[in-house]
Amino acid sequence: MEEAGLFKGSNSGLPELGTLAYANQEITFDVLKSTAMRTCMECHTTGRNAMGTPAEALALSGKILSEISSNAMPPKSSGYKTLTDCEKQIVETWLEDQAKSRKSVKIKDLPKCQGAVAPPKEEKPDISKLEVTFANLQKYIIAPKCLSCHAHDVEDVETVLDSVQGMHDAGVLAETAEESKIYQIVLPTAKRQMPPLKSGLPRLTVDEQVFLKTWIDKGAKEDTL
Ligand code: HEC
Ligand code: HEC
Repeated sequence: MEEAGLFKGSNSGLPELGTLAYANQEITFDVLKSTAMRTCMECHTTGRNAMGTPAEALALSGKILSEISSNAMPPKSSGYKTLTDCEKQIVETWLEDQAKSRKSVKIKDLPKCQGAVAPPKEEKPDISKLEVTFANLQKYIIAPKCLSCHAHDVEDVETVLDSVQGMHDAGVLAETAEESKIYQIVLPTAKRQMPPLKSGLPRLTVDEQVFLKTWIDKGAKEDTL
């Protein structure tokens, strides 16, 4: 039995993800956006590789197919799971239906989605209520919003942000958050605010800024076990 993989986040809520409702969905753009391409929408609704509308997604058709078949997207370095075969077939089918003006089929009619079960909805935690640890900082803020460019294994990376040591080596941590480059640069007042606008990644929310500030002001420590 093939299982549809976990999707991070829960942006649109379309369609309501229950097993039957999922399998019975016709593959419209809204369904695509809330199933196989749900994660994509967290980073690609604006910017260079925007795919938030049917026309934008179609224009990127070839690139989308090559990124998902090579498992380059969604980025594993940001903590995303690669798409399952069923999810890939949902994307391929939608793109092909559009190209050939075909009527769309239902998810359960796709050979690779036999028995596919919708992933459970994964709610994002309320960041202001999370314990201020390095693990939470990485998981909920740095990984999704920074590591596609700042993981240690990214080509030509200068500023490594996936370890406390990396941050120290990059010189982005100081005694206080106010003096720390990593904090200054995520604020709207930054000259070159991170993440860069053209990446299409959302900027840090105020709660996320406060979380980062608190972690630094408490000494920017590794977690003690
Ligand atoms: C965590 C954010 C994130 C997620 C999630 C994500 N991407 Fe990306 N994607 C990026 C970044 C960053 C780049 C490189 C910068 C750019 O070109 O926008 C990129 C680049 C791309 C490109 C262009 C590649 C090229 O050769 O120019 C395509 C196509 C793409 N992504 C498709 C997808 C698809 C399809 C999904 C979902 C299955 C997805 N992405 C999920 C961040 C993300
Ligand atoms: C789409 C790619 C991308 C994303 C996503 C991104 N950055 Fe950057 N960032 C860059 C590039 C490119 C540079 C310049 C080269 C370098 O320092 O690695 C840079 C530089 C930096 C620097 C060093 C600036 C300096 O003047 O020394 C810091 C600090 C930084 N980024 C923090 C962040 C943080 C924090 C996030 C997430 C909230 C983030 N970046 C997300 C691309 C990105």
